[in-house]
Amino acid sequence: APRQFFVGGNFKMNPSNVVTKQELLKNLNDADIDPSVEVVIAPPSLYLLPVLELLRNDIKVAAQNCYYKASGAYTGEISPAQLRDAKVPYVILGHSERRTLFNETSELVAQKVKAAIEDDLSAILCVGETLEQREKDQTVQVIQEQLQPVLKLLKVEDWSKVVIAYEPVWAIGTGKVATAAQAQEVHKDIRSYLAKEISPEVAEKTRIIYGGSVNAKNAPESASQPDVDGFLVGGASLKPEFIDIVNSGK
Ligand code: G3H
Repeated sequence: APRQFFVGGNFKMNPSNVVTKQELLKNLNDADIDPSVEVVIAPPSLYLLPVLELLRNDIKVAAQNCYYKASGAYTGEISPAQLRDAKVPYVILGHSERRTLFNETSELVAQKVKAAIEDDLSAILCVGETLEQREKDQTVQVIQEQLQPVLKLLKVEDWSKVVIAYEPVWAIGTGKVATAAQAQEVHKDIRSYLAKEISPEVAEKTRIIYGGSVNAKNAPESASQPDVDGFLVGGASLKPEFIDIVNSGK
């Protein structure tokens, strides 16, 4: 395959205590992981530094969000420069929870992606439609609208630092996973869009991963699709089955 399989674990605002965190780390540190897979976990920002210190070196760490300014009076935010300084290599941006609960627009998300890349971070850029939008046949259009502001701000070479996560909102945390065929269809559309708007080379090289109720059972079928390059896992990333998802790749 031209693209390295990628599995991210987004812990969201979990776990709620240090004991569970230690268990999680032990599970990851003891696991048998396919060395050809790029594995990245995203704990809450409070835990980034201890996780970086205690986690094995072949698993990378991501922040779940950042701002687009380097420093200043932005209470509650962390900057790409701070993440880079802390040696955090990845940041998740534009997660649907950020978009819906915290009113992040696609323009803001694009500014964040640009700032992150300028500070040498890699971005896991999330896009996806709601159930209502899917039922109205707006999936392709919605995703293109989410990507468009990012396309406007990034240079061609910046795309080597972007992983796109397709996360249909109706599949997130609901137990309603997109079928392998549904994921493949959207991933293929995204890749064609990148080919048309940026270049065939960028389209070929950019990882497009799927997120939304991924578990150890449903991962292998989706992983076998030609345009599914991995997963962004929420709930199951807190469980031992995360390792099976990591190892579900081609
Ligand atoms: O970032 C991860 C996604 O929001 C998926 O969450 O696996 O709990 O459905 P989930």
